[in-house]
Amino acid sequence: MPRFSTLLKMTQTDTAAAWRLCVAPMMDWTDRFCRSFHRICAPDARLYTEMVTTGALIHGDVHRHLRLDAAEHPVTLQLGGSDPGALARCAELGEQYGYDEINLNCGCPSDRVQTGCFGAVLMKDASLVAGAVTAMRRATRRPVTVKHRLGVDDLEGYDFIRGFVETVAAAGCETFIVHARKAWLSGLSPKENREVPPLNYPQVYRLKQDYPQLRIVINGGITGVEACREHLRHVDGVMIGREAYDNPYSLAEMQAALFTEDDEPLLDRAAILDAYRDFVRAELAAGTPLARITRHILGLFRGQPGGRGFRRVLSEKAHRAGAGIEVLDQALAEVERDDPWPEAA
Ligand SMILES: Cc1cc2nc3c(=O)[nH]c(=O)nc-3n(C[C@H](O)[C@H](O)[C@H](O)COP(=O)(O)O)c2cc1C
Repeated sequence: MPRFSTLLKMTQTDTAAAWRLCVAPMMDWTDRFCRSFHRICAPDARLYTEMVTTGALIHGDVHRHLRLDAAEHPVTLQLGGSDPGALARCAELGEQYGYDEINLNCGCPSDRVQTGCFGAVLMKDASLVAGAVTAMRRATRRPVTVKHRLGVDDLEGYDFIRGFVETVAAAGCETFIVHARKAWLSGLSPKENREVPPLNYPQVYRLKQDYPQLRIVINGGITGVEACREHLRHVDGVMIGREAYDNPYSLAEMQAALFTEDDEPLLDRAAILDAYRDFVRAELAAGTPLARITRHILGLFRGQPGGRGFRRVLSEKAHRAGAGIEVLDQALAEVERDDPWPEAA
C-alpha cells in the first residue's frame, strides 16, 4: 500500500495541469539558482534542468550536477545521451535526487552534441530512442519524457514525425515536448537552429489530434499570455524558453492567467525580488558568489522604468569581491528612483 505522501505526489504528477506551463531546459541558464528564481515567479510551472550528459554524471561530480532545492518541485532532469544502459543509470540517479520526471534530449543540434551521438541526431533512429526510453523506464518510477524537434536534416514532414512519436510512444513514453521546427545538423549554429527553420505549430496540433491519449507540450517562439491560451486550445502544455529567461515577469503573468481565475499576478516585481532574498542570503552564507545568482534576474524589470539601472547595478557590482545582499537593495533603488508615478506623500 503506497504511503499517503506517495499517493499525493502521484496525484500531483498525473493531474491534467502538470505540464500546462513548463520552463525549457537551457544550458548555462536554467541552473538551480535560476530555477529557484523561476519557481517564485511561477509557483505551478514545471521547471527543467540544463541538459546533463550521461558522461558528466557517470564520470563527474554527481552532486554538483543534480543537487536541487526542495522548493524547485515539480522539476525535471533533462539527460543527454544515447546509450540505454548509461541513460538508465542516470535516470535512476535522477530519481534518487528527487526529480519528478526524467526527460531525454532529442532536440539539441550543437556539434558537440552530435559527436557524442545525442540530441537531435537521435531522431534519425526512432528505435534507438524507443530502446533508451524502455531502459530508462525500467530504472525509474518517474515519468520518462522526450523533447524533440519536428524533423532533422532531410527527415521532415508529418509522416516522419508521426512515425517517430508512434515508435517512441510504443516504448511507454506518454509525454512529448515538441519544439515546433526542424533542426539542421550542419550549416547552422545552435542559435540559428532556434531561429532559422520555420515554426510549424499546426503539425504539433495534429499530433495531439491523432494521439489524444498522449500528452503533447508545444515549444518554440511562445511569448505572452494570449499565445499560451491559444496553444492550450490545441495541446496539453506550453514550454517557454528564451522569453522566460529574458523577461522572467512574463512567467508571473502566465502563472496568473493559466492557473488562477484572476489574471493579475500574485506578486509584483519587487515582491518577487523580496521573496528571492532568503534564497540569496542562504547561498551567500554557503559561499556562492553573488553574481552566479543574480545573473539570472537581470531581466526582472525589463521594459519597466528603471529596468536598465537595475540591470546595470547588478552587472557592475555583483561580481565584485565580497558583494552581498546590499547590491540587491542598490539595484532596486534604481527602479524606485525612476518611478514615474510616485505615490503622493
Ligand atoms: C541558451 C539556450 C540553451 C539551451 N539549452 C538546451 C538544452 O540544454 N536542452 C534542450 O533540450 N534545449 C535547449 N535549448 C532549447 C530550448 O529548450 C527551447 O527548445 C528553444 O529555446 C525554443 O524555445 P523558445 O523559443 O521558447 O526559446 C536551449 C536554448 C537556449 C536559448
